Amino acid sequence: MASKSAVFVLLMVVVAVAAPIAVAQTGILDNPLSVIRIQGTVFCSINATLNGTASPVFPNALVQLRCRSGNVVSISTTNRLGVFGILVLPIQISLPSLLSDCNLIVTTPLVRCNATLPSVGVLRSPLQSVGNTTVGLLRVFNVAPTGFVYVLSP
Ligand SMILES: *[C@@H]1O[C@H](CO)[C@@H](O)[C@H](O)[C@H]1NC(C)=O
Ligand SMILES: *[C@@H]1O[C@H](CO)[C@@H](O)[C@H](O)[C@H]1NC(C)=O
Ligand SMILES: *[C@@H]1O[C@H](CO)[C@@H](O)[C@H](O)[C@H]1NC(C)=O
Ligand SMILES: *[C@@H]1O[C@H](CO)[C@@H](O)[C@H](O)[C@H]1NC(C)=O
Repeated sequence: MASKSAVFVLLMVVVAVAAPIAVAQTGILDNPLSVIRIQGTVFCSINATLNGTASPVFPNALVQLRCRSGNVVSISTTNRLGVFGILVLPIQISLPSLLSDCNLIVTTPLVRCNATLPSVGVLRSPLQSVGNTTVGLLRVFNVAPTGFVYVLSP
């Protein structure tokens, strides 16, 4: 009798302890208190992975977040330092699908920042996870371009 109820109590404890852990592990990207922050710098160069830091930046450039089948999910513009930022909610698009299905596309032609560069084509970069931070209760998944490279069509 006593051992039966002890087993029952033990089971309840195991369920109570295990349940939140399972939720925390599988539901982390569905947490309404989380956001994906995409941030980066666009350089005035046909291949920023070559040596981005050596090139001047590309201010006032339109940056699109494009996902599977060309869907434009969000748009941003670089500031005078060439920096842009885009916020995406994990309920809109999960982090894994963002990293595998989306690209950043700079649609403003390079000729706008340097007259000797092409007047057609775009800069394109895949995305990478660069670290997760917490701001109060908010979980922030930080994402950055791997490097913009010139292509004729996105
Ligand atoms: C851009 O530069 C990287 C690093 O040097 C190189 O691996 C890559 O092939 C270049 N891409 C293009 C399209 O030139
Ligand atoms: C990129 O350019 C900067 C500035 O000219 C230089 O200091 C740095 O070594 C270069 N990096 C590479 C990987 O070539
Ligand atoms: C413009 O682009 C050309 C070709 O890449 C480069 O040689 C030149 O230094 C650039 N000019 C400026 C002002 O960045
Ligand atoms: C950030 O968290 C996500 C989800 O847990 C994970 O997939 C990703 O690798 C993490 N990024 C880094 C840079 O640790």
